[in-house]
Amino acid sequence: MLLENKHIVLAVSGGIAAFKAASIASMLCKRGAVVKCIMTHNATAFITPLTLREITGNPVAVSMFDDVTEFNIEHIALARWADAFVIAPATADVIGKIAAGIADDLVTTTVMATKAPVLIAPAMNSNMFLNPIVQDNIKKLRDYGYQFVEPASGHLACGVIGIGRLPEPEEIVDYIELTACRTDRLKGKKVIVTGGGTRESIDPVRFIGNHSSGRMGFAIAKAAVLAGADVTLVAGTTDHLKTPVGVMRRIDVGSTNEMKDAVDSYYDACDLVIKAAAVADYRVAHPAKNKIKKSEETMDLKMEKNPDILYGLGQRKDHQTLVGFAAETTNVIEYGTAKLKKKNLDMLVANDVAAKGAGFQGTTNIATLLFPDGTVEKLDKMSKDELAAIIVERAAQIIDKKK
Ligand code: CTP
Repeated sequence: MLLENKHIVLAVSGGIAAFKAASIASMLCKRGAVVKCIMTHNATAFITPLTLREITGNPVAVSMFDDVTEFNIEHIALARWADAFVIAPATADVIGKIAAGIADDLVTTTVMATKAPVLIAPAMNSNMFLNPIVQDNIKKLRDYGYQFVEPASGHLACGVIGIGRLPEPEEIVDYIELTACRTDRLKGKKVIVTGGGTRESIDPVRFIGNHSSGRMGFAIAKAAVLAGADVTLVAGTTDHLKTPVGVMRRIDVGSTNEMKDAVDSYYDACDLVIKAAAVADYRVAHPAKNKIKKSEETMDLKMEKNPDILYGLGQRKDHQTLVGFAAETTNVIEYGTAKLKKKNLDMLVANDVAAKGAGFQGTTNIATLLFPDGTVEKLDKMSKDELAAIIVERAAQIIDKKK
C-alpha cells in the first residue's frame, strides 16, 4: 500500500463538511497511513476531537496551548513529522489567513511551519467560493506551490445547487496519496497511456468489442502520475473506471481509428507511450446505417483491417520511448519478441491472457518484460498496481539511458 506508514496531518476547519473528515481519516488509516488530526475551534462545533481521536488512535489538538505533554502535539514538531499536510475541509477563512500569512491558531501556524507538500480541499457556499477574493487567494497559494482539490458541484448544505462541495472522501484520499507519494522520476515528461478496449460498430445499436476492463492501463496511468509525469489517458471501453487523480487529460474513444487519431495528435510532443489497450484489429467494412433486422438463419459480416496504431508510432519514432503489450494465449515469449521487433518498441509487456491470475479481467496480472537487447524479465503474479509501478520504472530507466 502506497500510504503505508506515511505521516499525514489532517487539519479540519469549521464548515459543515467537517463531518467528512471522519471518513477521510478512517480511509487514510485503512490504507496504512499514520494520521494526526488538528482542528480549528470552529471545526469542533461540527465534529468532536474525540471522534477523530478514536478513528486515528492519535491525540487531536485544537489549541496552541493544549497540554502537549499528554498529546505530544506541538506545531513545529507536527510540521516536521508530516509527509503530507492536508486541510479538509478548508473554509474561506483558513484559505484567506494562509494567503495573508496570518498564523494565529494551531492549524495556520502548523501549515506555515511545514515543509511537507500541502493539499487544500476547499468547501463552502458557491458564492463564497467564486468570490474573487477567495479565487485570488487560491491562485496566490497555487503559485506558492500549495495544491488544491477542486470542489465538487451539487446540492450544498445552504440549499443552493452549485460548486463548493467537498468531494467524496475517497477522491480526497486519492489526492492525499498522490501528494504524499509523488516522486520526480518522470517529472517534465509527457506520457500517453492507452487502456481499455476499442469497439467497432455493426449498426447503430451493436458493436464488436473485447473483454478488456481497462484496469491495467488505468493502473499505469496512475503509476505515471505518481512518478510525476504529465499523463494523457486515452481510454477505450472500460468497467466504468474513474480517471486516476492527477491525470492531466482523459480522451474517451470508441473505435480503433478514434484511438489512433487521439494518440497521433499527442505523439510528437510526448516522451513515452505505453499502449496497454486491447485494440480491435478489424472493423466492420460497412456498418449498417439503421438497425439490422433479423431475417436469415445466418449472417455474414465482412471485416476489414484496422491500422496498427503502435506499429505506426514505431515507424515514425524519434525521441519517444515506446512500450507495447502482447496479449497471447500460446508461445508468449516467441510471439512477444516478434512484436517487439516488428513494432520497433523499447519494451514489451507480454502476458499469457489464458493463465489464471493474468489478463483482461481481475486485479492481478502475470507478465514477462522483453527488451530489444534480448533481456527477458519474468515477473511473478502481482497486482496490476504493482506491475504498473514496475513498468513505469523500467520505462524511466530506458529514458535515462537515452539521455
Ligand atoms: N495494437 C495497436 N493497434 C492495433 C493492434 C494492436 O496499437 N491495431 C497494440 C496494442 O495496444 C498492444 C500491441 O499492439 O500494445 C500488441 O497487441 P496485440 O493485440 O497483442 O497484438 P497484435 O499486434 O494485434 O497481433 P495479434 O492480434 O496478431 O496477436
